[in-house]
Amino acid sequence: MNELKGKKILSTGGTGSLGQAITRRLLKTEVDVVRIFSRIENKQVMMQSELNDDRLRYLIGDIRDFPRLQRALEDIDIVFHAAALKHVPVVEYNPFEAINTNVIGSRNVIEACLHENVEIAVGVGTDKAVSPLNTYGATKLLMEKLFVTASNYLDEKRHRTKFIALRYGNVLGSSGSVIPKFIQQIKSKQKLTITSPEMTRFSITMDEALDFILSSTFVGKGSEVFVPKLKAYTIETVKESLQELLGNTGEEKIPVRQGEKFHETLINTDELRTTLESETRYMILQRSLSDEEIRQKYSNMERTALTEPYSSDRVKLIEKDRLKELIVKSNLL
Ligand SMILES: NC(=O)c1ccc[n+]([C@@H]2O[C@H](COP(=O)([O-])OP(=O)(O)OC[C@H]3O[C@@H](n4cnc5c(N)ncnc54)[C@H](OP(=O)(O)O)[C@@H]3O)[C@@H](O)[C@H]2O)c1
Repeated sequence: MNELKGKKILSTGGTGSLGQAITRRLLKTEVDVVRIFSRIENKQVMMQSELNDDRLRYLIGDIRDFPRLQRALEDIDIVFHAAALKHVPVVEYNPFEAINTNVIGSRNVIEACLHENVEIAVGVGTDKAVSPLNTYGATKLLMEKLFVTASNYLDEKRHRTKFIALRYGNVLGSSGSVIPKFIQQIKSKQKLTITSPEMTRFSITMDEALDFILSSTFVGKGSEVFVPKLKAYTIETVKESLQELLGNTGEEKIPVRQGEKFHETLINTDELRTTLESETRYMILQRSLSDEEIRQKYSNMERTALTEPYSSDRVKLIEKDRLKELIVKSNLL
């Protein structure tokens, strides 16, 4: 991507699954520097042993620590803010910690971006932030709100930062999601624990997530929330796909986890009024722009044709054979 040529980039949560994948993708371009910002030394050392590139810098730091962040962001052009506590049950049990990381930490990222006059700051969000049912979703909703309203703090004479937020669903195979859980259960000859076979989730592979994140970074003008157009799968399809790929160890029904939704939503009813769409994505506008301003600013996008919430039970479902293909291609087995 030409836009990345010569750019200095920092990823908070750079050792996480998204952070590592985005780093690999960035290193294929002509970026100048990629700074990895995270807390745990061991994860950085492991990443360092796998990725050998002299454009990489590893910075130990906590997003709760503003002076450290500020120093880390010196001369940076683009920030991908991915650091978060993200496991629903962990966050449910430790809500104060999640507020400190996901909310106060995100505020620190924004303040440091303003202070260092970063060009683009991208907040990585989740479908769980839409009409949230659990504490994780609620903290990520605040992260998103802080990002899209950060432009209120911009002084045009001094600041150039463009803040945008992204929302997507579980990355296929990401830790804590259903696919690795079922794989681990089958491999250790346990029964699959099924809440409800009709439950649905949006589907996005890591490669699709990276394409979406990097393209949205340069499409955004500031203060938008971007949402990719996605398909979904049912838990039944996941179960059958993995049983065909790995074997059938039986199944047992378990209750729905606290804070777990039956279907996920990426855009709720109220947001439809300010949603535009192109062929590949939706864009939710936060400000009350006039129709004329919207036409001028976003000439390549139309008002959305959606009339109902964009939720995982209303989109096309992925067939079993396609899901099996995606699981194999994503090296999840
Ligand atoms: N995975 C998904 O399916 C998915 C879907 C939608 C959105 N998202 C969002 O995408 C982002 C990345 O997810 P992921 O799957 O890559 O998560 P992950 O694998 O758990 O990685 C989280 C990263 O954040 C770092 N981190 C955590 N707390 C930190 C702190 N206080 N200061 C600095 N770094 C900290 C972790 O490293 P240390 O522990 O070493 O600090 C790690 O590098 C999250 O914001 C998540 O909400 C994920």
